Amino acid sequence: MNRKVSVIGSGNVGATAARSIADKELADVVVLDILEGVPQGKGLDMLEACPVEGSDARVLGTNDYADTAGSDIVVITAGLARKPGMSRDDLLTKNCAIISSVTEQVMQHSPDCIILPVTNPLDAMAQVVYRKSGLPRERVIGMAGVLDSARMRAFIAQALDVSVENTHAFVLGGHGDTMVPLPRYSTVAGIPVTELLDKETVDAIVHRTAHGGAEIVKLLGTGSAYYAPGSAVVEMVEAVLKDKKKILPCSVFLQGEYGIDGLFVGVPCKLGANGLEQIIQIELTSDEDAALKKSAAAVQELVQVIDM
Ligand code: NAI
Ligand code: 2OP
Repeated sequence: MNRKVSVIGSGNVGATAARSIADKELADVVVLDILEGVPQGKGLDMLEACPVEGSDARVLGTNDYADTAGSDIVVITAGLARKPGMSRDDLLTKNCAIISSVTEQVMQHSPDCIILPVTNPLDAMAQVVYRKSGLPRERVIGMAGVLDSARMRAFIAQALDVSVENTHAFVLGGHGDTMVPLPRYSTVAGIPVTELLDKETVDAIVHRTAHGGAEIVKLLGTGSAYYAPGSAVVEMVEAVLKDKKKILPCSVFLQGEYGIDGLFVGVPCKLGANGLEQIIQIELTSDEDAALKKSAAAVQELVQVIDM
């Protein structure tokens, strides 16, 4: 295989994404973590799954960034989860330090890669990767909107008892409580859900989508979601490696689009071989626009704390 994807952080999201990339034979995969033995063990386990999956992907677990050299794509899931007693700003500062150091080491070995940040708080961490890597904005694409839209699609499909394949959903804004699910642009077989569901049901779906991560955290008791996040990462990896020109909601560095400048915020993007190939600008109502600006302001607050 001549494509290479490195996944930094072999925890729940990183391992889930790595396994799926290898299973789908999208690329050779390197899984890196600071924990000794864990990435090696998980990598070997994934490699041993490949014969059953019919995949010739080579999978390697490592602690050494030299093994990531020449990656086409680097997915960054490394980081800490918030622990009791740790403030939101503590977590922000600690993950900022981790992401800065990871980015520096990634860039030493794969200066032309496309980086897909996943670590939370997502939009702020994507901004750290962008500032520290020096990569053009086309090559730093944060994962969040694909996950948030997938959650909304699942809820729409449940409410209408239709195939998820008939659903399409758009969620804009930062990855947090202020995200902006857009029912007007969310459809079933091309029909806006606002024409298929009553307002109360649509509002409930919007609310559940915006709190989708917290719902899973509460159920799991420890840790956060990883199956859907892993799948969302893989959809983005596949769109780039196969040059699919796929329109997906991603967190990218806006330079005036949607009236937002100098900040990573989730908007509809075209992903292809060059990474971010186009930002799609859609008409927003004044309420939707206000919600997007409020969400961007929440990201801006975090970015100011870490001075990025
Ligand atoms: P996890 O705790 O299972 O895995 C994190 C891994 O990062 C651990 O294995 C840890 O050893 C490793 N790590 C820590 N510091 C490192 C360093 N300096 N270098 C290399 N590896 C390092 O966490 P999980 O569930 O995999 O989540 C990872 C991150 O992704 C979290 O920040 C989480 O909040 C975020 N996330 C973001 C989503 C999104 O939509 N953007 C969705 C789900 C999770
Ligand atoms: C989620 O939305 C924790 O950001 C993560 O599940």
